[in-house]
Amino acid sequence: MDWTSVQKNIIIHIKAVSKLKFIIFKERFIKMQAKKELFDKYNDQDIQKFTLTNDNGVSISVISLGATWQAFNFPDKNGKTANVLLSQASSKEIMANQYFCQAIGRTAGRITNGTFSIKGTEYHVDQNEGNTTLHGGPHGFNTQVWNGSIEDNKIVLEKHIDSSEDSFPGNIDVKITWTLDDDNTATVTYSAKSDADTLFNPTQHAYFNLSDANNVYGQSLTIDADNYLELNKDKTPSGKMISVAGSAYDFRSGQNIKNGIDDMKASVGHTYDEVYVINDHKAENPIATLSDPDSGRQVSIFSNRNALVVFTPDDLDGVKFERGAGVPHMGIATEAQTLPDTPNHKGFGDIVLPAGEEKSYSISYKAEF
Ligand code: GLA
Repeated sequence: MDWTSVQKNIIIHIKAVSKLKFIIFKERFIKMQAKKELFDKYNDQDIQKFTLTNDNGVSISVISLGATWQAFNFPDKNGKTANVLLSQASSKEIMANQYFCQAIGRTAGRITNGTFSIKGTEYHVDQNEGNTTLHGGPHGFNTQVWNGSIEDNKIVLEKHIDSSEDSFPGNIDVKITWTLDDDNTATVTYSAKSDADTLFNPTQHAYFNLSDANNVYGQSLTIDADNYLELNKDKTPSGKMISVAGSAYDFRSGQNIKNGIDDMKASVGHTYDEVYVINDHKAENPIATLSDPDSGRQVSIFSNRNALVVFTPDDLDGVKFERGAGVPHMGIATEAQTLPDTPNHKGFGDIVLPAGEEKSYSISYKAEF
């Protein structure tokens, strides 16, 4: 072969490789799907459902009512795909049994007496659990119908909430964005801007069950927390942090959930509804990991804030989930956030959203199987 033929062959080869790379790239690009469809109607309003599906067939769905995380579908070790969230099938049910997998804000958890101060000014907000303001009060993020769209393979939900509507200071513009990566990580980002100083401590109230069983007994949980919060009778924080060492609260090296619940009942008389104080950690390390040895499914949770609420409800009677009628411990709620009742306790953190500033918080859920 003469020199010119060698050169020609090399060029043909390079062109072929580039073409192949382009086809592979195109394939990957085409495979990532974003879909918008009508979910149902609520109070005469169209409720939309948005779905992202990645190259591995993993998908997330979010609906515009309450910015509810409706599905996290991924396979088990045998390739059988299932939704690992406790989802309800209609808007009516979602609103009848609130908080399941919904967006929570402006403030996750309980505010004592619905009262707090920002820069010396005292505010009283609407209460919805005795004297307490739970999960942003009666008109929190989970009760809103969000304006949704798909932008660049992201689910974007936006809402302007007037101070007069939810009683918190400041008119607030909130944006909730969901993404799904090819490494099977779903990320929700909450961003907000207000025209007056206000509070912003959002979370996603996901309830997981990684198995096909109707309880989470076979699953185990690891939490990067040396301490949890002491709670008053009404579940508001006393301000005291307690070491988990040597107790049913200790999930540092992983604990089977059934053993934990049994231990809790025997030692403190109730199931988990606890606020864990997350240790200082590197961003690349999860704050918690839920795993199911039977199905081989696992979800790791990433957050750079200092708290994780863990709730294993005893009573789910009368709630109809897509996976079946509610039974005790059918799912486990994990809520990554800043420690609740923040302004009322020294050392809990800072959830003030100063006027005119934008703040963003992300929570990621990495699926493994
Ligand atoms: C959190 C709280 C629980 C309960 C749920 C909502 O997990 O800690 O007490 O209010 O939200 O059902």
